[in-house]
Amino acid sequence: MTEISASDLTLEEKASLTSGADFWTTKAVDRVGLPSVMMTDGPHGLRKQSGSTDHLGLATSVPATCFPPAVGLGSSWDPELVERVGAAIGVEAAIEDVAVVLGPGINIKRSPLCGRNFEYFSEDPIVSGVLGAASVRGIQSQGVGTSLKHFAANNQEFDRMRVSSDVDPRPLREIYLRGFERVVKDAAPWTVMCSYNRLNGVWTSEDPWLLTRVLRDEWGFDGLVVSDWGAVNDRVAGVAAGLDLEMPSSGGRTDAQLVAAVRDGRLQESVLDTAAQRAIDLVAKAGKRPAVAGPLDVEAHHALAREAAGRSIVLLKNDGALLPLAPAQRVAVIGAFASEPRFQGAGSSLINPTRVDAALDALREVGGDAVSYAPGFAVEGGAVAASGRSADELRDEAVEAARAAEVAVVFLGLPAAEESEGFDRDHIDLPAVQLEVLDAVLAVNPRTVVVLSNGGVVALPFADRVPAIVEGWLLGQAGGSAVADVLYGAVNPSGKLTETVPVRLEDNPSYGNFPGEFGHVRYGEGLLVGYRWYDAKGLDVTFPFGHGLSYTTFAYGDATATVDADGDVVVSFELTNAGDRDGREVVQAYVSLDGSIVQRAPRELKAFASVALAAGETRTVDLVIRRQDLAYWDIRVDRFVVEGGEYTVHVAASSRDIRSSARVTVQGDEVRLPLTMNSSIGDVVAHPVAGPIVMGALGGLMGELTGADSSAASMMPNDEAMQKMMASFPIGRLVGFPGIDATYEQIEQLLAEANAGA
Ligand code: BGC
Repeated sequence: MTEISASDLTLEEKASLTSGADFWTTKAVDRVGLPSVMMTDGPHGLRKQSGSTDHLGLATSVPATCFPPAVGLGSSWDPELVERVGAAIGVEAAIEDVAVVLGPGINIKRSPLCGRNFEYFSEDPIVSGVLGAASVRGIQSQGVGTSLKHFAANNQEFDRMRVSSDVDPRPLREIYLRGFERVVKDAAPWTVMCSYNRLNGVWTSEDPWLLTRVLRDEWGFDGLVVSDWGAVNDRVAGVAAGLDLEMPSSGGRTDAQLVAAVRDGRLQESVLDTAAQRAIDLVAKAGKRPAVAGPLDVEAHHALAREAAGRSIVLLKNDGALLPLAPAQRVAVIGAFASEPRFQGAGSSLINPTRVDAALDALREVGGDAVSYAPGFAVEGGAVAASGRSADELRDEAVEAARAAEVAVVFLGLPAAEESEGFDRDHIDLPAVQLEVLDAVLAVNPRTVVVLSNGGVVALPFADRVPAIVEGWLLGQAGGSAVADVLYGAVNPSGKLTETVPVRLEDNPSYGNFPGEFGHVRYGEGLLVGYRWYDAKGLDVTFPFGHGLSYTTFAYGDATATVDADGDVVVSFELTNAGDRDGREVVQAYVSLDGSIVQRAPRELKAFASVALAAGETRTVDLVIRRQDLAYWDIRVDRFVVEGGEYTVHVAASSRDIRSSARVTVQGDEVRLPLTMNSSIGDVVAHPVAGPIVMGALGGLMGELTGADSSAASMMPNDEAMQKMMASFPIGRLVGFPGIDATYEQIEQLLAEANAGA
């Protein structure tokens, strides 16, 4: 494709280029030789539809490898693995001549109820950002673009196409945008997909602040902004705000609106030129990828899906080393999910898998006849349900199987109909019939392992009574084999939770502010999202953020923390695999700042790594905390600011399992605010340049505040309480107080001089 410029095109051609030709493709402009390109979902595999099209996962798509959705893959906490999976998805996209894969989705899991949590990585922005960037790098390494979505604050499905997420500046910047910022800056996705919702009252598809000021001016994004499918409210306002491409096609209706808006002067043609040029640039980028011949190496990608699924599994509990199982042990496998796996969520990300492994088959490959099976309960739409057997009959059969076995492995999970894109759950409970079967099994065989299949977190009321719990999330098409790998120990589990498992739904931070009403949802918990909330409130949780066990144990040495030449904090410690199996440990670094001037969670995750260690091996681990990640959003100056001070860095195996802490002094960013008559005495004293001038001028008074003798001693006894009180006293109100000689004009004059000096 020769270089094409928007200026070569007519007004109508430019308008046409900024909306889709149909459901999945952009428009060609044959006159200048500009081809059309295809975009398609995403994110955990390819959903390329060849026949009828939809965004709800209804019509079928070409077979593709179904890798673990983000809820699983994210539990690996391993950007290298996420990147490899991304590269494989990129290969599949290239074979199918898809230019852009619509993912990754990195929205924060604000509530456990969000129907789409299975598509997202975490309740924490560093985890979401690091893993999102890895996914983008992987897919784009194959010359295929990505679409980072859903930008922004799309944290629920309820009323998702209209609701306004009402978020204060600090949580918006520090929690909801931080991950997007990291992916944009680190991995340069070809496109960003704006979300359906409104943000603080403005449609994200037509928000100049979000799409231009933040995304482009602040973060330096130079790709294309595409609408979520059907997210455009007012196309002209959208293009003016920085939306480049409307998807899917509007049938020419909104193209005509753009043309009319340019003609009657409501939209500058140069703005349309910019959007059209970005569409041209996207097509040009896609055109650079050489054609990739198929066929897809189905076996190799299935093997990668199995490896990734093994790394996604989280061993939550393993009392008495009940796991791993020995091949000769008599095992009763119970639960329909073992034979009818639930391996992905519903909606636009639904993949047509190349094949699907059932855990039961994989377990039998190892345990043979030592493995018995009873479905225990029916899963809606499955073969057991179709058999018409009664709940009592299924349960009784399961009890007999458990009684006859050395170990019972009970597969529980959420029915597919309970979690999907497009709606939220209204509770976090497993179906009662499944819990009844589990209780009946436990009554005859306490040596019971629970294996879970769920896209969103579930309450685990049995956690104290069951010795071993395996969180199997949704693991993609090879999940069944991966579960067997972990249960028999071929794979040593290494996943950890990227979200908290709460005791009760009512404990979660968004409770009472979710899903909102009358078109608004208020993010009332502010910064205290996920573990930040449970820690700040001192609440018990069933399993904390960052938790996950292994069949080996890891010993942590003492941590040290230093600031490097770039201003980043480097945390170092020795990690030893103290057991007799090779394994991996996800190590985490959390940060606290005592006496901070702003509200903070007790501990915030700032860096992590998945470290592989052979049995007995010791290695020095360095975790780098980027200086920028220490920053809070300062609403006074509308920018990120690193507060100076002595930070505590906690090296931890989970958010509630701190192994070692170190202190490190970080130089702060300077924030200079002009002093006014409403500046507090505390502000004045703290001001680096103006402070001394004003202090000098007000002499005795300031001396009193800092503990020296003063003429104002009579009104301000030299004690801490009075100093605290005076610290918030606006300086302009001092006039007329006993011991203050200065006039209002004199103080004004002083502040002016001080500000000029600053
Ligand atoms: C979803 C997007 C998806 C798009 C295209 C929308 O409903 O929100 O995530 O990429 O459809 O299928």
